Amino acid sequence: MDKSTLKKVDKRDHFNSRIGFILAAAGSAVGLGNIWKFPYQVGQNGGGAFVFVYIIFIIFIGLSVAITEMVIGRSGKSNVIGCYGKYNSKFKIVGWFGMIASLLLYAYYAVVGGWTIFYLVKAVTGQFGAASVGSFETMFDSFCQSPIQLIIYQIIFLVITAFIISKGISGGIEKYCKVLMPGLFIMLIIMAIRSITLPGALKGVEWYLKPDFSKIKGSVLVSAMGQAFFTLSLGVGTMVTYSSYLKSDENIGTTSISVTIFDTLVALVAGFVILPAVFAFNLEPSEGPGLVFETLPHVFSQMPFGTLFAIIFFALLIIAAVTSSISMLEISTTFVVEKTKMNRKKATWLLTLLIFLLGIPVVMGFGPWRHVQLAGKTFFNIYDYFVSNITMPLVGLFGTILVGHIMKKDIVMNELTNNGTINVKLKMVWYTLVRWVIPIILFLISLQSLGILKI
Ligand code: PHE
Repeated sequence: MDKSTLKKVDKRDHFNSRIGFILAAAGSAVGLGNIWKFPYQVGQNGGGAFVFVYIIFIIFIGLSVAITEMVIGRSGKSNVIGCYGKYNSKFKIVGWFGMIASLLLYAYYAVVGGWTIFYLVKAVTGQFGAASVGSFETMFDSFCQSPIQLIIYQIIFLVITAFIISKGISGGIEKYCKVLMPGLFIMLIIMAIRSITLPGALKGVEWYLKPDFSKIKGSVLVSAMGQAFFTLSLGVGTMVTYSSYLKSDENIGTTSISVTIFDTLVALVAGFVILPAVFAFNLEPSEGPGLVFETLPHVFSQMPFGTLFAIIFFALLIIAAVTSSISMLEISTTFVVEKTKMNRKKATWLLTLLIFLLGIPVVMGFGPWRHVQLAGKTFFNIYDYFVSNITMPLVGLFGTILVGHIMKKDIVMNELTNNGTINVKLKMVWYTLVRWVIPIILFLISLQSLGILKI
């Protein structure tokens, strides 16, 4: 979206160009989910088996749900609640669910976004060089023990995002994305090569790629599904909201495919950066959310020009995270602006304040409140489980029911084929998946994530 588009967006207009939409959607999809969350999820869920299930879910469920959400958004042309409620007002509740999840999601995403800024500062001050002493694990732990520091960096992240949304200057960001996203990808490939060639790294490569099918249990399926939704920005209203601005001659199918492929490649390469290094440095793959932040400095310290690489990498990672957080905040901003006629700037800052407050338990949960747990979960885990593993698949489930059973088939098909002007080869395969296969799988996964079913 360029400046003029964003202004128009407030009046519910369109993305100006196809590439503008793809970049916004890809910018939303590629973020911390790929580089921070994916590797530690692989680490916690048994390596290759998780990767295997994840890829299957992305191809057969994630991609189809992405198309479904674009159909809902473009035909609804409203905020997320209006879009879900357009064909059956009971479905408004699905939109509400998604929007509330987006607030909670952003609340913990911003805390982790703050970590990336902290690490950029560490990189700039030369603390990842080969000569650096001390343990990077301790660096991360002591950072987490200090709520003040976490809050400062969380605020910086929130302010950057709010500033961009309120000013409507995301056009600039998206133009950068054209260069910076491929840049991030190339950086990851270079880092992956370094990581794979470290002594002892091949064990990690094997662990990452070779599925041990005996490890596939219900919890692995739930996590893989949650990750597939999270990484493609599904189940919270982002793709619905963005597509509500999409012109009627854009091709929903090919756009979704491009975004899905790019997003998946970034995650898979990020896995090659982190997991071999985890084995090479004898770290614990199941460590959790700190994994990437403890591993990367080791990788940089083993690279020529490590500090320079670290600076460029963390700067790019922050931008990737911000283009995702913009898309989270955009959901509620669009809703508040449309419902209350409040101006965009005020809505953005008020919502940011709310999200900051929602993030405080997460911050405390990494430090002083780390012993406050519910069913073995810290605040961060509770938020993330609720958003990624419960809400996202449930919103996805109801989205597929809406498109597969409530909207008329010809309306859906017209949306997908732009009123019959494009030939979408696999449209019946997609429709069957959305009507029958995906709802059943998502229903079962939801039972499992809610603890009703136990595989
Ligand atoms: N897909 C983003 C990431 O991988 C996270 C996200 C989820 C963004 C849902 C918007 C909506 O980091």
